[in-house]
Amino acid sequence: MSELRVAVLGVGKMGAFHVDSLSRRVRGARVSVVNDVDTDRAEQVAAPLDARVETDPTAAIAATDVDAVVLASPGFAHEKQVLACLEANKPVLCEKPLTMDEASAHAIVQAEAELGRRLVQVGFMRRYDREYAALRDLIVAGDLGSPLMMHCVHRNPAVPDSFTSEMAMADSVVHEVDCTRFLLGEEIVAVTALKPGATSSAPSGTSDPMLVLFETESGRLVDVESFVRTGVAYEVRTEVVGENGMATIGLDQNLLLRREGRWGGRIAPDFVERFGAAYDAQMQAFVDAAGTGTVGGPSAWDGYAAVAVCAAGVEAVSTGRRVEIRLGDRPEATR
Ligand SMILES: NC(=O)c1ccc[n+]([C@@H]2O[C@H](COP(=O)([O-])OP(=O)(O)OC[C@H]3O[C@@H](n4cnc5c(N)ncnc54)[C@H](O)[C@@H]3O)[C@@H](O)[C@H]2O)c1
Repeated sequence: MSELRVAVLGVGKMGAFHVDSLSRRVRGARVSVVNDVDTDRAEQVAAPLDARVETDPTAAIAATDVDAVVLASPGFAHEKQVLACLEANKPVLCEKPLTMDEASAHAIVQAEAELGRRLVQVGFMRRYDREYAALRDLIVAGDLGSPLMMHCVHRNPAVPDSFTSEMAMADSVVHEVDCTRFLLGEEIVAVTALKPGATSSAPSGTSDPMLVLFETESGRLVDVESFVRTGVAYEVRTEVVGENGMATIGLDQNLLLRREGRWGGRIAPDFVERFGAAYDAQMQAFVDAAGTGTVGGPSAWDGYAAVAVCAAGVEAVSTGRRVEIRLGDRPEATR
């Protein structure tokens, strides 16, 4: 088959990475159209690629020189743009979050189900990280016995002062939500956010760190340390505690250096370095499936469930209460 022609909407930090991935590292695709509300930015990105700029996002999606779409616009723009992709019958890789609220995310699940074929993949790239994939294989093979608990760590070195506790839930902890559902294979039914004393670098009123607790359908517990101003590096770790053993990923042990009487390693400074290979693997899988007119990987339902858990998480942060999650109907076609 000829190369898949992809429109990329939103070419900020994430979109620029996806453009680079499609142009230089992924096989079988090229960027044909670039769209961004910042037209200068779109021109800059498109120029070296021989791609054209389309200023209207809906026209970019519907264009005859576009076979598939990558959305890396801000979350508030996703709902309209994903619906336009469904309308145009085009496969779409949509960055998280799928949409900004549960009702609109559920409407996308239903709209896709009515089409009768999967067209929406949500950008939960950790599922394509080799450590997460290995951990999932271990669990599915039964090597740990039944998983009982999970401990997760999500640390960033720094964030702007404007990054609130609610944003930490919606932007960072959202990945732990998807990992929990991916690794344990069940839904999260309740979320609680505990707030220890804040680090002195957090603006007044911001809870950082937080300890977030998920309860799953079968009663498993998952704790997540969310700490986004550590001043250290980007650290994402997961330990699954099972009946027959424990397994940990994210130990940054790629290289252990022994030199001048000391030993140690290096921690990735940011998510692009830590998960760069996973983003590329995610994109390759999207391109391969989109070439056959469909998608695999994290689904619209996965995107919807994450939106619902994060909405509950945001409520848990602001009220200090345990918040239960009641998901809407799951269309048979999405199972
Ligand atoms: N999967 C991950 O790990 C990960 C990491 C970072 C960001 N993201 C997600 O990627 C998306 C983009 O994040 P970012 O960090 O690149 O943000 P960013 O602000 O760097 O880039 C967003 C770009 O979208 C453009 N834009 C704004 N409104 C638009 C619209 N209506 N249509 C098209 N373009 C529009 C902006 O001009 C900007 O260039 C967000 O949904 C974010 O949550 C995911």
